[in-house]
Amino acid sequence: MRIYKAKDYQALSRKAANIISAQIIMKPNCVLGLATGSSPIGTYKQLIEWYQKGDLDFHEVKTVNLDEYVGLSGDNEQSYRHFMNENLFNHVNIELQNTNVPDGRAEDMNTECQRYNNLIRSLGGIDLQLLGIGRNGHIGFNEPEEAFEQETHMVNLTESTIEANSRLFNDPSEVPRHAVTMGIKTIMQARQILLIASGEDKADAIQKTIFGAVTPRVPASILQIHNSLTIVADEAALSKCDLGNKDMLVL
Ligand code: F6R
Repeated sequence: MRIYKAKDYQALSRKAANIISAQIIMKPNCVLGLATGSSPIGTYKQLIEWYQKGDLDFHEVKTVNLDEYVGLSGDNEQSYRHFMNENLFNHVNIELQNTNVPDGRAEDMNTECQRYNNLIRSLGGIDLQLLGIGRNGHIGFNEPEEAFEQETHMVNLTESTIEANSRLFNDPSEVPRHAVTMGIKTIMQARQILLIASGEDKADAIQKTIFGAVTPRVPASILQIHNSLTIVADEAALSKCDLGNKDMLVL
């Protein structure tokens, strides 16, 4: 794995956007796996800026998002589809039909999970998967469990995730209790993974991800065995990791 230490959130976002841009430039019709949440907002802003300057072209890019809340339709402001449209897709020249988010309103969630797995396969897999990380080490909505869940599946959200996400809802009781998420196997099959983390509340999860045992109790720990993992984190998120005084480290 390659670890970049960024001074702050802005520097982290710029570095992550650089890595995604490189992917788009090297393979204009690439498949990007995307994430929502607070972590990637700065990265998406930077990509939009470079697109507006004429340095990036999204017209052949395809995307698959990690997850979606169950019960929210794409036009609900709290849905991840809405988040992606607002924070990236509406501001670049991507074809909306090339962007994919699981359907949280599908009638039959098992069929929806199968559809999403087949879709990712039919696109030829994911070239670069962007990930944030939860304070408990979750990736996508793969929460700490007894075993790694493999493909797209429905999950019960843990109280800590519901609480962390409630900041984005008017009332904590509105936070959905279920979500649909890509599984660990799907994420691990991405050809490249880019994990971003900012802030001290991620420091424990990042320390366990890089140096801890590989265990489904810390879902992100499995990333240690991916052969093309890049972590971009700010100083606060890396505050529990001893990297010497290096800004870039290959482990
Ligand atoms: C969202 C996702 C989640 C978040 C994680 C961190 O699509 O997959 O795993 O990446 O909950 O969220 P933030 O970035 O808001 O701290």
